[in-house]
Formats: sequence, C-alpha cells, structure tokens
Amino acid sequence: MKVAVFDTHRYERDILSEAARARGHEVVFFEPRLTEATAVLARGTDAVCSFVNDRIDAAALAVLKDVGVRLVALRSAGYNHVDLTAADRLGLPVVRVPAYSPHAVAEHAAALILALNRRVHKAYVRVREGNFSLEGLTGFDMVGKVAGVIGTGRIGAALARILHGFGCRVLAHDMAPDPELTSAGIVRYVPLEELYRTSDIISLHVPLTPQTRHLVDAEALALMKRGVMLINTGRGALVDTPALLASLKAGHVGHAGLDVYEEEEGIFFRDLSDQVIKDDVLARLLTLPNVLVTSHQAFLTREALANIAETTFDSVSAFERGEPLVHAVHAAAVIR
Ligand code: NAI
Repeated sequence: MKVAVFDTHRYERDILSEAARARGHEVVFFEPRLTEATAVLARGTDAVCSFVNDRIDAAALAVLKDVGVRLVALRSAGYNHVDLTAADRLGLPVVRVPAYSPHAVAEHAAALILALNRRVHKAYVRVREGNFSLEGLTGFDMVGKVAGVIGTGRIGAALARILHGFGCRVLAHDMAPDPELTSAGIVRYVPLEELYRTSDIISLHVPLTPQTRHLVDAEALALMKRGVMLINTGRGALVDTPALLASLKAGHVGHAGLDVYEEEEGIFFRDLSDQVIKDDVLARLLTLPNVLVTSHQAFLTREALANIAETTFDSVSAFERGEPLVHAVHAAAVIR
C-alpha cells in the first residue's frame, strides 16, 4: 500500500522507511502536520500515518475520505487528537500503537525528576561558563520520599517500579487499580485527594479524556504540599497551565517537569530558535529556574521508534489483507 506519512522528522524517516519496505509498502513523507488544509496531500495514497500534533478532526477526515484514503494509522498511543465519531461515520478505520515502549516514557519522567531535584539543568550551564559554585543546587534524597503516580497503566506502572527502586513510598491512583502492583508491594492505592495532600512528587500518566482534562487545576494544586514536584509526560491539557504558573510564582509548586504542554501544537517538534515565542504562558514558564520543559520527547528512544514503525506497518499489512485490526480505536473507546 502507499502510505502518506505526515509531520515527519529526520530522526524517524529511516526507521519508518525500513519497516514499510520490509512489508512491501511504499511511503511518501510530508513535513506539514495533517490538518484539514494539508489532508489533500494524501491524494493518490491508500493510508495516512500521523503523529500527536496533527489535527484529525471531522473536516480533515472528510478530505481524506474524499481523496481516497482508506486507513488512518496513528504512530502514537494517544488518540485524543482524532474525531473518532467522524471516522466511524465515514467508515475510516483508525489504528494506533498502543504500547511501543512504556519504559521510554517512564524513564524520561524519572530523568525529569532527577534533573529537577539535583538541578542538573542548572549545573550543566553553570559549569560550562566556568562557574563551579554549588549555591542553589541543593537537592533531596529520593529514598523515603512520597511519590504519587496518577494512572498506573503501562507507563505509570513502569514509573512506579522505578520510584520503588529509589526507595520512595509510592502512592497511586487509578480508576482500575493494578492488583499486581499492590501484591508486589510497589504501590498503595489511595483516593486522589490523599495522593495530592501527601506526595512530594506527583507524576501524571492518565490519558486525556473529558474526565481528565485539567485534572490538575487551581483547586488540585492548592491541595498539594508546598514545594511539591509536578511531572507531566501524559498530555498537556491534563494540567491547567496558567494555574500551574500562578502556583509556581506563588512558591507553592516547588518544581515542574513538563514534556507536554496544552498549547504545544505548532511549537513542539520545531526549531523556533530564531523566532519570538508568542505563547506568553510558555515563555514565562521557560524563565523559571525550577521548571524543566522538554518538547514531547519522552517516547524518543531507538527501541520505541522501531516498535512504532513495526506496529504501524503491521497494521497497514493487516488492513491490506482484510484481517481484523487489533489496534483499531473506535468512538466507543473514548471515556466520556
Ligand atoms: P494505559 O492505557 O496503559 O494507562 C492509562 C491508565 O489511566 C489506565 O490504567 C486507566 O485505568 C487510567 N485512567 C484512565 N482514565 C482515568 C481517570 N479518569 N481516572 C483515573 N485513572 C484513569 O496508557 P499508557 O500507555 O500508560 O499511556 C498513558 C498516557 O501517556 C497516554 O494516554 C498518552 O497520552 C501519554 N503518552 C505520552 C508520551 C510522551 O512521549 N510524552 C508517549 C506515550 C504516551
């Protein structure tokens, strides 16, 4: 099949080409994000392959259908950027990559925690400028600290194990608790409010749904301990960012590690180093010494890229052969 791959970057092209070629598919790479305006580029292809900041709304899907596309293959786990109801109505199957490497994301969350705690981001810059002072670099021992993991699916469970390994007391919250984590003594499930009130570190690993949008709002932040470290590698809109900024400025939240940002579309994944950042909330966040922002890179390991490419083109092959699509997502799967 011929697959139009949108929002492509140098770091993934070889790996995607190789997986496609190995299964007899042809790929055409497009740099623009997939939106209503760019969907027409897919004319002449059988499927589109898209990433997290594409906007696959009803209008984009209608154009895709119109130009002859028969399959939407997301090379991501999250599918909150797709109008699944419209896709179902148009008879356009949508597949995703449910789990490519939970470890990649969990380990990045751990990297953010350690970097913020031990001020690695500050020390790196300081030493390069010949400043060998230790002032302001005091961190804390991880052992014995209370870490709250919200969402203990694949990624949250992997992070809970890492934090347990550091000697943290790990509290967890999930609407479907994982009995294995409890029986292995890794986590203790508690109501969200207790997790907020008692955790020194809080990390978010629930999907973005109408229920989880702005899960961390001003009210939730006020419940948290003064000096809490908040980590978000889930989806930007899990956090009400202006409320987080206000809490950071008030000195209530002590550290924030963000791999995702509510308004990241059009900013993350791009080199904007010669431009003025127009998003004032992001620009202000970037000035704070206790905030570490990475641009949605938690997934970015060699292993994850290979799994993404292979699962995506396995789905394309299954579709071509008329086999059941095991990684299909439907509107009914979205928790409303
Ligand atoms: P998963 O589906 O394995 O786990 C999600 C967990 O959240 C489940 O245990 C579920 O019961 C729980 N949950 C869902 N809604 C809830 C609610 N309202 N209240 C309490 N618990 C709730 O998903 P996985 O693979 O662990 O990924 C989690 C999220 O991480 C993805 O949805 C995606 O948004 C994000 N992600 C971010 C990446 C990055 O590069 N920054 C890469 C991959 C995923």
